[in-house]
Amino acid sequence: MALKNSAEKFGSLTKLLHWLIFFLFIGQFFLVYRREYFPKNSPEKLQYILLHESLGVLLLVLALFMITWRHVGVRPTMPAHMSKFEKLIAKTTHLLLYATMLIQPLTGIAMSEYSGYEVGVFGWFKLPMLVAKNEQMGHLMSEIHEISSFVIIGLVSFHVIGALYHHFIKKDKVLLRMLPG
Ligand code: HEM
Ligand code: HEM
Repeated sequence: MALKNSAEKFGSLTKLLHWLIFFLFIGQFFLVYRREYFPKNSPEKLQYILLHESLGVLLLVLALFMITWRHVGVRPTMPAHMSKFEKLIAKTTHLLLYATMLIQPLTGIAMSEYSGYEVGVFGWFKLPMLVAKNEQMGHLMSEIHEISSFVIIGLVSFHVIGALYHHFIKKDKVLLRMLPG
């Protein structure tokens, strides 16, 4: 399987990044919601949020890599049967998905730093503190972080419906070309 994309299908690197990011998103939601079942100030509660922060930073790095890689070489063309409007909807959804891949971790990092907490990455190192403590800004970032997480659920659901529509209704290769193999 080729590393790079071709005009017909996605290469292995785009597929790997796409599915890694997908599983990381699932993991992120699991961690913050599972965390609610532990008592306040328990070591588990802290461990869950520390892992959430580290995986969020990893997701940011992978998203930046995927965006960069997107500009290397060609990308598969959209099927000829798609109308201009359908292509516009697909492109806009992808653009918004890329935006949320950045907004979610960046607001997470900003929320922590404005609240005065350093962000550790898997216990290996800490991100530099780029802002001074500001509770109002911390609260705003937390609000955006929460709203953006709902937006992601909506966007991904729409995106999945689109992929299934291509596969089962239009019977084209759009879904297959993003699957492994
Ligand atoms: C990149 C993917 C990420 C996703 C999908 C994600 C998702 C979420 C969700 C759904 C919540 C619960 C809603 C809320 O209370 O705001 C949350 C809370 C939180 N996230 Fe993230 N997040 C991500 C990245 C990050 C990063 C990079 C950090 C910090 C470095 C971070 C720090 C936090 C904190 C501190 C909370 C608050 C937990 C609480 O209120 O008890 N998140 N995140
Ligand atoms: C967190 C979840 C997901 C995110 C953030 C995401 C994001 C993206 C992005 C940004 C692209 C555009 C790639 C490009 O052309 O540059 C894309 C393409 C694609 N995604 Fe996802 N995706 C997610 C989940 C899924 C799932 C669950 C499926 C399948 C059911 C799926 C199927 C596809 C397909 C088939 C394409 C290729 C579309 C085309 O050929 O134009 N994605 N995804």
